[in-house]
Amino acid sequence: MVRELSGHEIDALHYELLIKDIIAAAERLPPFPDVAWKIVSLVKSMAPVREIEALISYDPAIAAKILRMANSVYYGRQYGVRTVREAILLLGDRRLLQVVIAACATLYYGPGNSQDERELWEHSVNSALLSEIVARQLQHAPVLTLYTASLLHDIGITILSLYAKIYLHSNLREIRGETDIIRTERRALGIDHQELGAIISRNWKFPPDIVAAIENHHNPEKAGKYEELASLVYIADTLAATFSKQDDGHHTKTLNPESDPVFKKFNITRKMIDDSRNELKTGMTDVAKALGSV
Ligand SMILES: [Fe+2]
Ligand SMILES: [Fe+2]
Repeated sequence: MVRELSGHEIDALHYELLIKDIIAAAERLPPFPDVAWKIVSLVKSMAPVREIEALISYDPAIAAKILRMANSVYYGRQYGVRTVREAILLLGDRRLLQVVIAACATLYYGPGNSQDERELWEHSVNSALLSEIVARQLQHAPVLTLYTASLLHDIGITILSLYAKIYLHSNLREIRGETDIIRTERRALGIDHQELGAIISRNWKFPPDIVAAIENHHNPEKAGKYEELASLVYIADTLAATFSKQDDGHHTKTLNPESDPVFKKFNITRKMIDDSRNELKTGMTDVAKALGSV
């Protein structure tokens, strides 16, 4: 005998299918380009410039972005940066790797799309740059892991926003009524952008520390042995959101370093926050602009 489903059961079924569908969409994202890790390993092993140049030139899209970035950072030079080799030498190892990661990230979201996406990209670039500034203030070495996790911490939003538009006929901004965005997303769509970010970055074969930082950037205390990395991403993310002019709805709380447990734990003072704001605004404008345009 066929039993009729109750309204509640049908709702639960819809919910389950929706979550499955969202996860499947996240899993369908194309893999993170292999070339990124190949370039990272060449640079780290101090391979000759010609080998790095050959690898970059093999991928015209990345090569073009690197040239654009180098020209943007070194704008005002008498001659533009015309070759990949010149760009590699001018940018230096650290910046080069950052540009490569940023160039690859723009395959999934970037500056050229809707206003929401542009804002998300700007927030991501600012978080990545602020993570470097904060790491320096705390006398941590600015590592590529922190930069990468900070740049991609909100990648889950790209998928979740889409579903919010389809199923809730609104964008995530509108459903972010309360301060706990993670709880709100789970209530509205059954899954949150941290969990989706972890699924995506795991599929991309990112190392476990980056996955854990993305998965816990709103609650770094849950990141286990990667709590420190997740906390630095949390700090950079919170600062980026606080400094941005418009409230993106994603981080609605106002920053209070004296009461925020993560800021307190790392002894982030108001002076450090002001300094990082100034540095982001002045010292790194060219880099930020260039990363924003890759
Ligand atoms: Fe987030
Ligand atoms: Fe964020």
